[in-house]
Amino acid sequence: MSREVRTIGVVGLGAMGAGIAQLAVEAGLETVGHELELSRGEQARERIAHFLTRKVEKGTLAAGDRDAAIARLRLTDDLASLAECDVVIEAAFEDLAVKHQVFGALERIVAPDAILAANTSALSVTEIASVLVRPERAVGMHFFNPAPLMPLVEIVRAERTATDVAATAHALGERLGKTPIDCFDTPGFVVNRVLIPLLNDCVRVLDEASVSPRDLDAGLERGAGWPMGPCALLDLVGVDVHVHAGEALYEKLREPRMAPPPRLVRMLKAGKLGRKSGEGFYTYD
Ligand code: CAA
Repeated sequence: MSREVRTIGVVGLGAMGAGIAQLAVEAGLETVGHELELSRGEQARERIAHFLTRKVEKGTLAAGDRDAAIARLRLTDDLASLAECDVVIEAAFEDLAVKHQVFGALERIVAPDAILAANTSALSVTEIASVLVRPERAVGMHFFNPAPLMPLVEIVRAERTATDVAATAHALGERLGKTPIDCFDTPGFVVNRVLIPLLNDCVRVLDEASVSPRDLDAGLERGAGWPMGPCALLDLVGVDVHVHAGEALYEKLREPRMAPPPRLVRMLKAGKLGRKSGEGFYTYD
């Protein structure tokens, strides 16, 4: 049985958090967005306004609905402002200590039955929830990048997740316009368990076959029907995010294909993170 959700909180308004907040306001939910610095929150609001305005320009959203959606987003730099939220989705930095700090602080603020959802790529939701007094309120909601466009959300049941908490997260995923799939808290969940070693293989092929990123991307797009090639995808996801996820999965599964190839580690050390840094496999304005 799922519970009613009226207000949601989003902690961390980077690319993923801003995308999730955009989905929430578009779905008619009152949304409180938290960032450590309000200026970064304002940047997220501008990003959301930009994408909603593109929809208005393309005739898929009325200007009044855009304005109402933007008005549903309240920004804060104080976690205490999330007290009224029925569900809080954290999209903070992918680091267990950071997630522990956020979850621990949130539990002291939100209502006893409020749900805490982790949007993690590769960390264990069970481990994240281990700091909670009531770990049954924690669940994984793993969105894909770019969140407003990718139709999937993985609903991850941790070791102690309550049945109604998972059901509420599933229903929320549907309300946000996504196709939710349910799974247990295993390393990489469903998609990353497959996608991370696959992308690593793609990068290894760059050197093995001496193929350029552009030709490799053309290969997978034209020869395998991918919507974008692996190098463009790694630039979109972020080399830092991918390397971190690969290392986390390798640590847990010990499968060599999970470990990030040296070429990606070199790119990370050189600050070639993809779109976010202006250079990855490709360069960006
Ligand atoms: N947020 C909101 N809206 C956006 C957006 C964003 N980040 N990016 C684009 N849009 C909007 C824009 O308004 C755009 O229209 P305009 O260009 O007219 O403004 C509109 O969406 C369509 O954009 P595109 O023309 O770029 O769309 P497309 O048809 O080329 O599809 C894509 C883009 C959905 C990204 C597609 O290329 C695709 O599916 N790529 C694969 C992405 C993928 O595999 N993601 C998963 C990564 S793995 C992951 O996320 C897991 C993890 O844990 C790391």
